[in-house]
Amino acid sequence: MSKLLVAYFSKTGTTKAAAEKIARVADGDLFEIVTEKKYPASYAATVIVGKKEQLMHEMPAIVSKVENFDQYDTIAIGFPVWWFTCPRAILSFLSQYDFAGKTVWPFCTHGGSGPKHSTDDIRKACSGDVKDCLDANGLTDDAVRRWLYSE
Ligand SMILES: Cc1cc2nc3c(=O)[nH]c(=O)nc-3n(C[C@H](O)[C@H](O)[C@H](O)COP(=O)(O)O)c2cc1C
Repeated sequence: MSKLLVAYFSKTGTTKAAAEKIARVADGDLFEIVTEKKYPASYAATVIVGKKEQLMHEMPAIVSKVENFDQYDTIAIGFPVWWFTCPRAILSFLSQYDFAGKTVWPFCTHGGSGPKHSTDDIRKACSGDVKDCLDANGLTDDAVRRWLYSE
């Protein structure tokens, strides 16, 4: 497999753990998508902020930067499902790099809904070849291998 970047956004650590597992199993470079704005500590308050971001089509600023993005042919992008799709920070991240010619593997954690509209929304925002979003709840090493090496 070509060189892999595992980029992730995670508020409470669940997606971070999945990203770390993917990076370890598939020997990828780990990258955290860090927003300039700080989200509220409480779940309930974050739910409201996340909804407002969606309704207002916000593009939260990202303060972390991928070094030498061109070296990666394959990019896994992880996130918690927020309101049945990816958080707006993922759309900000997608807008900052040129994904043309790259393969994109979205993965998500969630509280029960599954990925929902994540794949469609990422495809609309990304010029790369976007695969179906992996449900990474309870991710195992074997599931990582099946997912990334299925083609
Ligand atoms: C703003 C917000 C919206 C959410 N919306 C959904 C949702 O639509 N469906 C769902 O199953 N879980 C939803 N959740 C739960 C998160 O997806 C879940 O807790 C996730 O695993 C957290 O990942 P993290 O620890 O990496 O932040 C939401 C959580 C937040 C904070």
